[in-house]
Amino acid sequence: MCVTCGSTYPFEARRLRCDCGGLLDVQIDVDGAPSPEALAATFESRLPSRLPQDLSGVWRYRELVLDLPADDIVTFPEGRTNLYALDPTPLGLSALWAKHEGENPTGSFKDRGMTVAVSWARHQGARALICASTGNTSASLAAYGARAHLPVFVLIPEGKIAQGKLAQALAYGAHTLQIDGNFDDAMHAVEQMAMHHNLTLVNSLNPFRLEGQKSIILDSFFQLGQMLPDWIVVPGGNLGNTSAFGKALIEMKALSLIDRVPRLAVIQAEGASPFARAAQGNFQHFEPMQPETIATAIRIGNPVNYDKAVRAIRFTNGVVASVTDAEILQAKHDLDRQAIGCEPASAATLAGLRRLTREHVVRPGESVLLIITGNLLKDPDTTIALATGQTAALGVPGTPSLDTCTNQPRHVPSDPETIAHIIEEELQ
Ligand code: F0G
Repeated sequence: MCVTCGSTYPFEARRLRCDCGGLLDVQIDVDGAPSPEALAATFESRLPSRLPQDLSGVWRYRELVLDLPADDIVTFPEGRTNLYALDPTPLGLSALWAKHEGENPTGSFKDRGMTVAVSWARHQGARALICASTGNTSASLAAYGARAHLPVFVLIPEGKIAQGKLAQALAYGAHTLQIDGNFDDAMHAVEQMAMHHNLTLVNSLNPFRLEGQKSIILDSFFQLGQMLPDWIVVPGGNLGNTSAFGKALIEMKALSLIDRVPRLAVIQAEGASPFARAAQGNFQHFEPMQPETIATAIRIGNPVNYDKAVRAIRFTNGVVASVTDAEILQAKHDLDRQAIGCEPASAATLAGLRRLTREHVVRPGESVLLIITGNLLKDPDTTIALATGQTAALGVPGTPSLDTCTNQPRHVPSDPETIAHIIEEELQ
């Protein structure tokens, strides 16, 4: 169903947009669904199962995601990522959790959407799969495409994706096309190609991707004992997660799985913050921008899911904030030192939460869930620079405090006595 004009199309229509240009939603049959108790019992009953589709933290919720024949499902499995309790006291909160989506098979939340988009594509007999990416989508598609034995083409902005992600796309055999432009240019190109050249697009413009990403909320709900916190904080780039979370919460409310809706806080990097700017004007006006940020995953100036993301913010009484690259690096450093570890875009969550508590938007005593979207190993260059106090080399202004956090590897002789002596010194 179109989110702009309400037109409906059959599932098999293989459309990316409505005739009016609006974004499309997969419709869940809320009225025909079982009771919330029955749904919860079904989901919980799958926990001890060893079937791949039950082990998956996406397909476990298939009644609210997509019901496909088991043979069509391409799963590793994914999801069921850990939810870590962090110390809430420095921010005056009652509870603080981090859900680590970097624990997915290819190291980011994209796997949750990709398992659904690729399974659906295989079910429909797709010829080849294509996406634009700042890196993680390409890594994830390369992996799921390889498992599905389907050819994969990925378009990435040359020189602007983190090494770990490029390594994955190449290693898993994706045809990797680097373009001169940025992600937004690549996104525009793949949409045109998908329309005219019988290629299946699996960016979050594809509504089936978002059905899979709803499971981040469902997983969190069950991991927290069938409750959700006051706030859910997520980084915003192409706004796929924002849209998926909004849809998940709309449906969970309609199904009476929840009665109170948590507030979404979407955090963007200041240099790539068109959604945050639009939010300041209550979404009356949207202006794309030339994106620039150290957090390459969210280096996006014209998010395709804008309309759905506005719906998500309105439904959840949510907020959109932006943070500087220096704040992102500081937050990454602090998460890394707790061994939560993440790529820069994910650290925008903690940076944003700090800002929102300072500004009294998030209030003392409230509970918060941070969505850590990608693994630390995705971006080894930034991680090493940060850990060794070489942030000046990253060209991010305002990070002098981080330059004192030097954890340099030390050269030592291979003699145990000398090494033991050095260890004793370090322990002083
Ligand atoms: N965090 C990470 C680690 C990402 O890779 C992305 C998006 C986001 C946050 C933003 O999520 O687009 O749903 O708002 N990465 C995409 C990609 C664009 O191509 O890998 P969003």
